[in-house]
Amino acid sequence: MSKQSILVTGAAGFIGSRLSRALLARGDRVIGIDNFNDYYPIVHKHRHLADLRPQPDFTFIEADLRDADAMLRIIGQHKPDAIAHLAAMAAVRYSVEHPLIYGTVNVQGTMNLMDAARQAGNPRMVLASTGSLYGSDTPVPFLETAPADRPLAPYPASKRAMEVMAHAYHHIWKLPITVVRFFNVYGPHGRPDMMPWKWSQMILAGETLTLYNGGRLQRDWTYIDDIVSGFIAALDARFEYEIINLGCSSPVDNLTFVQTLEKLLSKRAKIVEVPTPPSEPLITYADITKARKLLNYNPTVNIEQGLARFIEWMRQEKLLPA
Ligand SMILES: NC(=O)c1ccc[n+]([C@@H]2O[C@H](COP(=O)([O-])OP(=O)(O)OC[C@H]3O[C@@H](n4cnc5c(N)ncnc54)[C@H](O)[C@@H]3O)[C@@H](O)[C@H]2O)c1
Repeated sequence: MSKQSILVTGAAGFIGSRLSRALLARGDRVIGIDNFNDYYPIVHKHRHLADLRPQPDFTFIEADLRDADAMLRIIGQHKPDAIAHLAAMAAVRYSVEHPLIYGTVNVQGTMNLMDAARQAGNPRMVLASTGSLYGSDTPVPFLETAPADRPLAPYPASKRAMEVMAHAYHHIWKLPITVVRFFNVYGPHGRPDMMPWKWSQMILAGETLTLYNGGRLQRDWTYIDDIVSGFIAALDARFEYEIINLGCSSPVDNLTFVQTLEKLLSKRAKIVEVPTPPSEPLITYADITKARKLLNYNPTVNIEQGLARFIEWMRQEKLLPA
């Protein structure tokens, strides 16, 4: 395939930076944008960018999705062949405390990007969405055809609103859009607010973890390299409009998750059980038949292997107490 230029939003984030790295490795040009928001410490975003910045085919622009003129200017100037849209306010629980920013960034911000794209010759777009939008009344495993119109918190609701708006942009302006719904992504460079990072630090520091529902909540943890392969396959596929789950299709309960960390860290966790907040579904579980068929997607890393690689990376980066 000839060299392409890909605009990656959220390039200083966990998944956006790993995707950028993989695109550069196969010879694409990457224009990365990010506003360096302070939802988690910026030092981690600089670490995400450290292996990208020295590469000649990587350009970084500090910009905010909420600035519609900036989106128009950047897309008009760089004329990317494709847009990988990962910039967002993520995190279910934070969205319960700060709902409004999920509307301005995830819904209006994505509209600003799509609107700039349609005015700049309709580059194809792949939008990152979330498996948390299936809520608690979708039969498991979750199929893309489920209505998913009963999300449990502002974050998944904002992503569902983004998907629905994307369909309108496709329908009226023929913008080619693929939505990929990620499930609990983890691995090296992972997010400091998520369970693998927080819990491994807390176990080693002797701090107490809070487990919902006796640790019976199940999550479909998906390793970062599997997500990046699925995302790149969606970028290359050139669909008109599709929604595709990218999960591992192998949910793990939180108690097993803690026990796996205990083994890897050689230390017992202190645990306190608390009731499940209403924003948390009991299970996330992707049906990945569509991704297998359309994208040749085949997740290969299980939770033991993935957490072992993650802990090794945390140690290398000196992010774990000795
Ligand atoms: N990590 C997961 O488990 C997971 C699961 C489902 C979906 N997702 C989605 O994948 C995408 C990437 O998530 P991540 O885990 O890498 O999160 P992340 O927070 O590490 O990355 C998101 C990046 O977007 C940037 N950003 C936020 N608001 C912005 C704005 N207004 N303008 C420009 N940049 C902005 C942030 O600074 C950050 O660097 C998000 O869209 C998220 O909703 C992630």
